[in-house]
Amino acid sequence: MPASKIIGVGMYLPEEVVTNDDLTKLMDTSDQWIQERTGIKERRFFKEGVDTVSSMGAKASLMAIERAGKKPEDIDFIVFATLSADYCFPGSGALMQQHIDFKRNIGALDIRAQCAGFIYALSVADQYIKTGMYKTILVVGSEVQTNVFELSNRGRDMSVIFGDGAGAVVLEASEETGKGILTTKLHTDGRSAEELYLEHPGSRRKQRFNPTMIETGELLPHMNGKHVFINAVKYFPEVIREALADQNLKEEDISLLVPHQANARITVAVGKELNLPDEKVVSNIHKYGNTTAASIPIALCEAWQDGRVKEGDLIALAAFGSGFMWGSALIRW
Ligand code: ACO
Repeated sequence: MPASKIIGVGMYLPEEVVTNDDLTKLMDTSDQWIQERTGIKERRFFKEGVDTVSSMGAKASLMAIERAGKKPEDIDFIVFATLSADYCFPGSGALMQQHIDFKRNIGALDIRAQCAGFIYALSVADQYIKTGMYKTILVVGSEVQTNVFELSNRGRDMSVIFGDGAGAVVLEASEETGKGILTTKLHTDGRSAEELYLEHPGSRRKQRFNPTMIETGELLPHMNGKHVFINAVKYFPEVIREALADQNLKEEDISLLVPHQANARITVAVGKELNLPDEKVVSNIHKYGNTTAASIPIALCEAWQDGRVKEGDLIALAAFGSGFMWGSALIRW
């Protein structure tokens, strides 16, 4: 059975940098409050008319394709993770074909797994490669979320945390033994869905949205921050240990942990729980905020650019988020 190897990584961040101090002009908050609770100093805001989830995904993808030494026509399939698709339908994976000329009408699949989206996408792509259905797959995570939160006192609990951005990897079938994705583990607890969710414009009500919903704040996402924190620090280590046990590996075998950048306090707690020194845990949330499905491929791309990902390294990826959905992936680089 072939293994799936990551042969190229790419990222794209919108130009506009919004600092914590910038946010203090729009709501009652402070640089200190935000940094102490989340580790975030600044984030990027997309530019309307320039950036879309699909265009940002495409820019990250073109970088990954070039670094892989490939051409768009070499790609057999697209798996696109996002919670903030350009349109309600069709998905942003399909819209990638408006930005990149793949030369063929390759299939495209959108994944709705929020913060765990990239892990789910990677796992799906890995199965297609293992079964021999496809050889070269583009796996993308991209989000435009700064327009879903309200930059106001009412929306401040969530709007200070999230940012926009995109990351992508090219996955290719490889016959090299012991290399590539060793395993992925996926979990969901749908009973906790309403602890971190956005109801509208969903399909439960006769009217998907109406002007009253703007006044009442029903069009804003909801997060039970404390509940998310408690579950994240439990399930991140658990799902990493599950993957390690599956491969007869130990925590100390991990060369680098690239966690979903949810919150610096969560990342620190997970690193401590796994006894990993700081230099083995990637954290870039101070620069980009929480970019949901894009955070892992952006962090992986930066780590690779910084020379922190080397041939033979054991790279652990893990995420937890809305659903609740969580997962991990172990990669021998
Ligand atoms: N600036 C200033 N004050 C704020 C802000 C803000 N941006 N947001 C909320 N507050 C206020 C609240 O109104 C509250 O005021 P009150 O005491 O007068 O009622 C006070 O700060 C404390 O609010 P809490 O919600 O209790 O704040 P807490 O200390 O729990 O921190 C946080 C909130 C950061 C969300 C925390 O619960 C947390 O870290 N949760 C983890 C969830 C998380 O990180 N999610 C990230 C996205 S989800 C994911 O990726 C998995």
